[in-house]
Amino acid sequence: KKIGVLYGGLSAEREVSLASGAAVHKALLARGYDAIAIDVNRDLPQVLAREGVEVVFVALHGRYGEDGSVQGVLEMMGIPYTGSGILASALAMNKIFAKQAFVASGLTVAPYRVLRRGDEIGPLGFDFPLVVKPSQEGSSVGISIVRAADGLAAALELAFRYDAEILVEQFIKGQEVQVGILGEEALGAIEIVPKNEFYDFEAKYTAGMAEHILPARLPADVYRHALETGLIAHRALGCAGYSRVDLLVTAAGECYVLEVNTLPGMTALSLLPEIAQGAGIGFEELVERILLSAAL
Ligand code: DAL
Ligand code: MG
Repeated sequence: KKIGVLYGGLSAEREVSLASGAAVHKALLARGYDAIAIDVNRDLPQVLAREGVEVVFVALHGRYGEDGSVQGVLEMMGIPYTGSGILASALAMNKIFAKQAFVASGLTVAPYRVLRRGDEIGPLGFDFPLVVKPSQEGSSVGISIVRAADGLAAALELAFRYDAEILVEQFIKGQEVQVGILGEEALGAIEIVPKNEFYDFEAKYTAGMAEHILPARLPADVYRHALETGLIAHRALGCAGYSRVDLLVTAAGECYVLEVNTLPGMTALSLLPEIAQGAGIGFEELVERILLSAAL
């Protein structure tokens, strides 16, 4: 079958996706698949038809790729694709609706307020430090940690550059832990120790800017709780195939769910591939298993 790896695209995470897609494409060729890489633009349906693509590996990140838009195009064209469907993708990409689904599944999330442009901030019900983030972005684009009132205006302005709806969250002090999900199984949990204040865009994609510790340094029962939390979060949104769930784990062992990435990074510095490697699944095998999980 002719496989199309969709990458690039129109989002703020375009560069990341170009790296993920190139790595996925290379892995599929190495495994002997007939695969082409397609940099996505608005002519996607025509390109897929012209190239005779029969199965799609979605290696996009962010808007239009991770939010259900491309999934909708593929559903309409009757082309099977990897990863989550329209609804789970849209839910996961929207941090506000995702939080509601996590809470409904009994998971813990940071207290938050939703702001739209022009809203009065008013009393938040929690204190500094705060985290300000656009509702629908990835790779920490547009996120700030705000330690005092004088930093708030600039943080709001930055977040509103990326979305008309933003979240102001209580800052949770804890270890940054990410759970890799493949099939309906939690493969492991990795811990991130960023050199920056948090695991921001630079720390995510610059070698040496974050330490990765696998398995995460957690007591055995908390580690198990993190894996279980990851799986519940994946299911709460109805995700399929694979995902990576980002958590903050407090010293008391509480697991706060930050988000589910339905199309986690697949670059050389990315974490799902590293977690999979730790579980004995090399990159090519990971890519192949994701491919084979596409509804064929
Ligand atoms: N949004 C980036 C690609 C990630 O979660 O890995
Ligand atoms: Mg993300």
